[in-house]
Amino acid sequence: GKGLAVFTSGGDSQGMNAAVRSVVRMGTYLGCKVYFIKEGYQGMVDGGEHIEEANWSSVSSIIHKGGTIIGSARCTDFRTREGQLKAAKNLVDKGITNIVVIGGDGSLTGANEFRRNWGSLLDELLTKNLITQDQRKKYNHLNIAGLVGSIDNDFCGTDMTIGTDSALHRIIEAIDAIAYTAYSHQRTFIMEVMGRHCGYLPLVAALTTEADFVFIPESPPHEDWDKRLCMKLEQERAAGQRLNIIIVAEGAIDRNGQPITAEQIRKVVVDNLQQDTRITVLGHVQRGGSPSAFDRILGCRMGAEAVMALMEATEESEPVVVTLDGNQAVRLPLMECVRRTQAVSQAMKEKKWELAVRIERKI
Ligand code: F6P
Repeated sequence: GKGLAVFTSGGDSQGMNAAVRSVVRMGTYLGCKVYFIKEGYQGMVDGGEHIEEANWSSVSSIIHKGGTIIGSARCTDFRTREGQLKAAKNLVDKGITNIVVIGGDGSLTGANEFRRNWGSLLDELLTKNLITQDQRKKYNHLNIAGLVGSIDNDFCGTDMTIGTDSALHRIIEAIDAIAYTAYSHQRTFIMEVMGRHCGYLPLVAALTTEADFVFIPESPPHEDWDKRLCMKLEQERAAGQRLNIIIVAEGAIDRNGQPITAEQIRKVVVDNLQQDTRITVLGHVQRGGSPSAFDRILGCRMGAEAVMALMEATEESEPVVVTLDGNQAVRLPLMECVRRTQAVSQAMKEKKWELAVRIERKI
């Protein structure tokens, strides 16, 4: 059977295990020899026990677990030629020419570069007598399929990334919980929500918890946001509301691109309105807990689609990323999606927020 490996890379997210399970089972079903690569790219570079054969039962009882059972890492060795040579040798030794990478845009870009270098890596291994002429010929092609695992929903080309829905559940549960205690003491709470430079989590959390105000990177507030914020909070209190909830993205910025922090907001509220104001930073709780039904099924469907894409790949095929389009799992060119995602970051850097939102098409 064909050699197929799966690994998770970058920040973990809920639903990654469902995807791993689906890749292993679909691969096994189609007669592949399936491997786990543990600890992301680092495991690929280190080889040995990090590359382990998997079977149907090695992925039993993992679909409900958060995180990733095969470990994940942000790896710097893989960026070097030396690291990639070691990784290529490890894959050839095991006869692996199909890989499913589950991670964010950095991890997917890394996979694409690795594939671009594949031919020259094998040539160098052959020159150094680390692989045989036969192996050089037999493993000439590396097929890659990516799945986007991230709570941030910050990847272009997919409506949802694996983990976003579960993180949202966690966030709104926490905000609902805070609302009771805030109500009792007539307090104002500022909740800091993850998402790196993407405002999807804070925005959807705000809409679904009746928050009074939200700060997201893609839509920096008006210059006199402090006055507008205070006016809004006062208005709500005057209407009989006993509490206020403000949600701030960890990557929130003002129109000059300077960070807006929870502490800054707290000071504005306390100085101007003398409200009893507290900050809650949700942090990694958002990445924890078990995956939602949505993320489990998303991981399952994407994993299966990725394996099918690999099995149908020809020597001409470009790497694909499996994404969600409406309610369909579809295959898109990996690099096009990575490029679009990078264009969003670039637009944000240049303070072209509307352009960023237009490319992103999520908010
Ligand atoms: O990308 C997922 C994420 O949780 C972001 O929302 C956050 O900015 C980042 O990872 C935190 O990274 P780390 O887990 O390395 O602290």
